[in-house]
Amino acid sequence: MGQRILLYTGKGGVGKTSIAASTACSIAKSGKKTLVISTDPAHSLGDAFGIEIGPKPKKMAENLYAQEVSVNEAINTHWNELKGYLTGLFQTEGLDPISAEEIATLPGFDEASQLLYLRQYYEEKDFDAIVIDSAPTGESLKLLSFPEAMTWYMDKIFPMGRFAAKLVRPMWNTVSNITIPDDEVFKSVETLYEYLRRIRSILTDPKVSTIRLVMNPDKMSLSETKRAFTYLLLYGYPVDSVFVNKIYDDSTGAFFKGWRSNQGEIIKDVNDSFSDVKIFKVPMLKEEPIGIERLEEMSSLIYSDSDPLDIFSREKNIQFVKEHGKYFVRLKLPFADKKNLEVFNKGGELIIQIGNWKRVFYLPTVYSDKNPIKAEFINGVLDIEMK
Ligand SMILES: Nc1ncnc2c1ncn2[C@@H]1O[C@H](COP(=O)(O)OP(=O)(O)OP(=O)(O)O)[C@@H](O)[C@H]1O
Ligand SMILES: [Mg+2]
Repeated sequence: MGQRILLYTGKGGVGKTSIAASTACSIAKSGKKTLVISTDPAHSLGDAFGIEIGPKPKKMAENLYAQEVSVNEAINTHWNELKGYLTGLFQTEGLDPISAEEIATLPGFDEASQLLYLRQYYEEKDFDAIVIDSAPTGESLKLLSFPEAMTWYMDKIFPMGRFAAKLVRPMWNTVSNITIPDDEVFKSVETLYEYLRRIRSILTDPKVSTIRLVMNPDKMSLSETKRAFTYLLLYGYPVDSVFVNKIYDDSTGAFFKGWRSNQGEIIKDVNDSFSDVKIFKVPMLKEEPIGIERLEEMSSLIYSDSDPLDIFSREKNIQFVKEHGKYFVRLKLPFADKKNLEVFNKGGELIIQIGNWKRVFYLPTVYSDKNPIKAEFINGVLDIEMK
């Protein structure tokens, strides 16, 4: 097996950090060099291990390393790639030079810098496995759609001024006069762009990367998990499993009877809704899973005989199919809402928009001059007929 990247995401507080850390402990124990990296700006990986962790990979145990990405640190490490952003943005007269701390607050910047580490570790083949403890769903979806959004802007709306405007809209209003950047800046923007494209291809390569959704058995968490699943599939990220964490078992006594029955209902819904992916069920533990020993215990409860490095589902999420002389694009998108759906062909690209989310698919040649004439959801699959 080549290098693997496992990314754990989910609503706030559901147990992403604990499960990511516990997974990393178990992989390291099996002899694979493992890095668990937190990309949540509100780091708590150190709390899970009960040890302070810095912005560089820190050795925690044999084969096990942990890192809490700091945006300031990333800016220093990846300055050459990132400076294009800024030079372009701040080539305006009358603006004071800005500090790394201020740069760190620019929208899009923290996402970009975290992703740059991922590319570096992947391409330098530093680790057999990289486990990502990511920010709560909303934030990490932003992170995962970032390379795509950037590709779109680079392709369509270069020159720089407008591309930059998207990334720093809040600041844009105060900036009056952005000039087209010089060659060096242009090159560093290109490098960044190229890196982000590579990151996207790494994160969407189902042989390498796997996205795992963590949830608790409650209604809000279930809704958010379904939403996240839809968007991840829309963006082509390979989701292979759902982790239902903090399940009350029978030993929790009479007081939790009502809770157990509510959780039972939700778990039933999870079983029905996520039948294509593997579902891991994790009990509420008697004590907080803190420290390597408890995290290892937790991982054997979670995975029992399964290998966390396995790929638990290999379904393709987009297919181009010709049937009875008709052309179809089929996209797996369970839980998507048809109300907010728009589909159209724009110059050989199929644009699929669901609410605020937009995805662009480059159509194969035989499809490129065809337009969608019908779109319907059939068993969680968006079926688009093209003519
Ligand atoms: N199965 C479990 N049994 C008992 N406690 C748990 C379990 N899983 C997680 N916890 C505890 O729940 C709390 C939240 O877990 P954790 O920090 O892993 O969640 P998170 O999703 O990473 O949160 P955040 O969104 O804040 O990053 C922690 O105190 C953790 O120790
Ligand atoms: Mg966390």
